Amino acid sequence: MSLKQRIPLLRWSVWRMAVGNRNILKTGQIGDGREAAAVDYVLKHARAGDIDDVLATIDRFAYEKSMLINVGDEKGALLDAAVRRADPKLALELGTYCGYGALRIARAAPSAKVYSVELAEANAVNARQIWAHAGVADRVTCVVGTIGDGGRTLDALAGEYGFSAGGLDFLFLDHDKDAYLPDLQSILDRGWLHTGSIVVADNVKVPGAPKYREYMRRQQGTLWNTVEHKAHVEYQTLVGDLVLESEYLG
Ligand SMILES: C[S@@+](CC[C@H](N)C(=O)[O-])C[C@H]1O[C@@H](n2cnc3c(N)ncnc32)[C@H](O)[C@@H]1O
Repeated sequence: MSLKQRIPLLRWSVWRMAVGNRNILKTGQIGDGREAAAVDYVLKHARAGDIDDVLATIDRFAYEKSMLINVGDEKGALLDAAVRRADPKLALELGTYCGYGALRIARAAPSAKVYSVELAEANAVNARQIWAHAGVADRVTCVVGTIGDGGRTLDALAGEYGFSAGGLDFLFLDHDKDAYLPDLQSILDRGWLHTGSIVVADNVKVPGAPKYREYMRRQQGTLWNTVEHKAHVEYQTLVGDLVLESEYLG
């Protein structure tokens, strides 16, 4: 890893990302076209049908071209291990972005159906191209919407995609940090999780999900059993982050 890769402030694409922060909240993209460029790069450079190569090519783009807000390679390894532990038949991600996290889940759980809920249609279009190139489009689906949209997306997951009581084995929270706790609560209210379901939450330290962390601490040993994994914000080693892995005891 080069100095530029280790120290993010030496990278123009990181400064550009800080400028684009407001954009991310509104449009789900940084605002300089880097997500579409990442898709073009993958279609050009990654071997079709090779999940490992598609993921490695996205990581290479994020390290060498423009920083992306995927879970990334370091925290992605924690995600992979949690998925293998859950051994899911049905997995749900909140926050698709370019499709990288869902692709990691699909690789770690080769027989799972993976759904990913995404606010921005443009990200869904990008992610579907990545998944098609990786050869997993038949079992990875992006649903455009939010869990907090008054029941529309929750109803679609239930009615169109067969989500039902006790059927959800794995949940990955990686979207609006303030929505982690209310969205988890909405999913609990539907009864989709079962004893032993695993929930992984990214970015609990940076940008931070303090209410979610506090909730998991309060419920430790009663409703949830949580391990806090120390790691770094994606694609650099200067700034620390936390990934929470929680087993549902309910
Ligand atoms: C950090 S990125 C997700 C990265 C992805 N999980 C990965 O590892 O490749 C956050 C994504 O969440 C989306 N998002 C933001 N708020 C959302 C919400 N309430 N529901 C669903 N998606 C949301 C953004 O548009 C953005 O694409």
